[in-house]
Amino acid sequence: MPDELWRLVYVSAASHDLSDAELVDLLDVSRQLNLRDGITGALAYYDQRFLQVLEGNELLVEALFQRICHDPRNDSIMTITQSPVTGHAFEDWSMGWVPEKELKRAGFGLRMLYSPQASLDMMDELFIAFRKLGRPS
Ligand SMILES: Cc1cc2nc3c(=O)[nH]c(=O)nc-3n(C[C@H](O)[C@H](O)[C@H](O)COP(=O)(O)O)c2cc1C
Repeated sequence: MPDELWRLVYVSAASHDLSDAELVDLLDVSRQLNLRDGITGALAYYDQRFLQVLEGNELLVEALFQRICHDPRNDSIMTITQSPVTGHAFEDWSMGWVPEKELKRAGFGLRMLYSPQASLDMMDELFIAFRKLGRPS
């Protein structure tokens, strides 16, 4: 099924605490390349950890994930889920940004996602929160 929509969600530990300027730069590049590849999703940065949702063509999502895995800004990476899905959760976001301040205010910590089972159970709730708290683009 070449046109099947694929979703991959991972958490990672950043190699260092990224500055606002570094995060803006990362988002700028990501949005440009994701528009090119038809990839959508959301990225959160919290407590020196990333959580990212990637949606799109399976091969393109996998190629992007390989780049992300080799990116020196990431240390350890853990895939939470990767599977075909029937619809985009972030269709209109080339890469939405979920600010740490908003996540903290809503009582979310990415640390809790480091247990894979907890993550899957929380995924729907988290996506709803991301859509509410995130800054689209
Ligand atoms: C946490 C994190 C998330 C990233 N998300 C994306 C993304 O959504 N899209 C993207 O193209 N690059 C993303 N990147 C950047 C890629 O790792 C890579 O630097 C970029 O795609 C350019 O790849 P290239 O230099 O091999 O062409 C991300 C990097 C990090 C550290």
